[in-house]
Amino acid sequence: MCGIVGYVGDGNAKDIIIDGLKKLEYRGYDSAGIALNQKNNLVVRKKIGRIANLEEMIQGEDLTSHIGIGHTRWATHGAPSDVNSHPHLSQDGRIAVVHNGIIENFVELKKWLTEEKGITFKSETDTEVIAQLIGVYYEHDLVDAVYKAVEKMEGAYAIGVIAAEEPDKIVAVRRDAPLIVGLGNNCNFIASDIPALLKYARTIYLIENNETVVITKNEAKIYDMDRNEVKRDVFHVTWDADAAEKEGYDHFMLKEIHEQPKGVYETLTRRLEKGGSIKLDGISLTKEDLDKINKIYIVACGTAYHAGLVGKYAIEKFARIPVEVDVASEFRYRDPFVDDHTLFIAVSQSGETQDTLAALREAKNKGARILSVVNVVGSSVARESHDVFYTWAGPEIAVASTKAYTTQLICMYLIALYMATQKGTITKEYYDHIMDELKQLPDKLEELLKSEKQIEEIAKKQYRQTSVFYIGRGSDVGISYEGSLKLKEISYINSFAIAAGELKHGTIALMEQGTLVIALATQDKLYDKMLSNIQEVKARGAYVIGLAKKSNTAIEEQADDVIYIPDCADEVTPVLAVVPLQLFAYYIAKLRGCDIDKPKNLAKSVTVE
Ligand code: M6R
Repeated sequence: MCGIVGYVGDGNAKDIIIDGLKKLEYRGYDSAGIALNQKNNLVVRKKIGRIANLEEMIQGEDLTSHIGIGHTRWATHGAPSDVNSHPHLSQDGRIAVVHNGIIENFVELKKWLTEEKGITFKSETDTEVIAQLIGVYYEHDLVDAVYKAVEKMEGAYAIGVIAAEEPDKIVAVRRDAPLIVGLGNNCNFIASDIPALLKYARTIYLIENNETVVITKNEAKIYDMDRNEVKRDVFHVTWDADAAEKEGYDHFMLKEIHEQPKGVYETLTRRLEKGGSIKLDGISLTKEDLDKINKIYIVACGTAYHAGLVGKYAIEKFARIPVEVDVASEFRYRDPFVDDHTLFIAVSQSGETQDTLAALREAKNKGARILSVVNVVGSSVARESHDVFYTWAGPEIAVASTKAYTTQLICMYLIALYMATQKGTITKEYYDHIMDELKQLPDKLEELLKSEKQIEEIAKKQYRQTSVFYIGRGSDVGISYEGSLKLKEISYINSFAIAAGELKHGTIALMEQGTLVIALATQDKLYDKMLSNIQEVKARGAYVIGLAKKSNTAIEEQADDVIYIPDCADEVTPVLAVVPLQLFAYYIAKLRGCDIDKPKNLAKSVTVE
């Protein structure tokens, strides 16, 4: 969601901030803005729409400054508009604020500021309340005013603040929304995420909840709620600057689809000992811990939830522990049965998803052991978990998750196999067989990506569809959900996924001449059943694209088009089966002229409930 960048140093703040904001575009936004301190005056420029609109607006203006804050806004309070865009100013124009998150008590604060302090608000946002509050408390000391304002603010937020009178510093605060500090040469930064800084700073501080940061050109200091200075170890970013660039691909999504062999390889091989046993860095679950656990919840949102569905198959099959998979926004409100015999597995690419975080806290309060599978190092979900298992996908920029998903699946297999070996529920032969299958996946993914042209051709026949159905059985059901989500989020086609055996209980009523059905038949033991389901929809006029293993060619008799995945064990097909569906969604969206990396209404990191 919203992105924050702040810069103070010898360089041109405007250019550096706008460049950083562009690297945060993936978070999703509907307007952008910047505030600069020019000779002790705050100059604010903001515009609805893409960052390019803002750039066009300020083109030719002399906005030279060495300090400033910038923002990409994803509207929550107040529609996307120029006036609701950030930064927001205090009434006297001496304080500027950018904000990511929600101020829950903004109505009450707004009333107080209006009635008691005579403030007239310009926007409909909760953020303006912060600027006005700091403005009211400001007496030539920005840090003090921010502390006083924060005491009154309830909610989840990260803010960046500058004052006209103090052109040397940016003050920032983190509470339940991401914030990092980048340490550069004669300059320092604040930002919502690492890609914004990759070009300028590789040494960062990960800011903790309820901490305040003060950065000047030469210093970055962190303070706790009681204004005591906090010492923090630096974190060195190892990604190269190209990690956040498209490197010749038309879109980040396509680049990230092609990065899956590498992501899967990294996520897997970093965890394997020479002898083939699993070394779970970041997880301290012993056999005794596992013996205590009688129930596992996997809780997540969107694509990460779909990874959880495959995780359930793997854990129940290998480790024989019952697993429930829950959508995070539902879990926390249904008084789930959780105690100290529960293992709660949170899955999240960003590690900042508010729903997942809230569910995690609910489970932790009830005594559960928390294990998280996260891509972003040092994110909130990672920090609040007892054990963290990182995916090694690298930065995922496109809103549509692809490589994070396949690496999450690898983590699920590793966790399941690790539990199985600890609990003695798997034979050595079976373990070696699955491990061998997993190790072959990077090469098989490379082989599969060679079908890209064929998938593009199929997409050319189908991109005018108005609705698409995905069907499958066993672990293909979860992959159907994921394929359907991919298609709808980037192409805006109404798509629907269902267990193939459920069709006849209602949904088959929707089949008519030309209805597009994507039938996943990758499971050997369910193959014949799937062929029958394909016949059922064909009989009602459906056009079927089948997905099967290379050796299972009988599907050609039933389906209109067939995409093959390399042969592999049924247990690991999800990692392969999802890739053609990602490519199909990509090419359909491309042919429809959609904004693939930044689909409308969506944000990469969903930091509101
Ligand atoms: O960062 P997270 O993995 O927690 O995000 C969860 C979902 O918001 C995310 O997977 C979303 O569904 C993606 N846009 C799907 O492509």
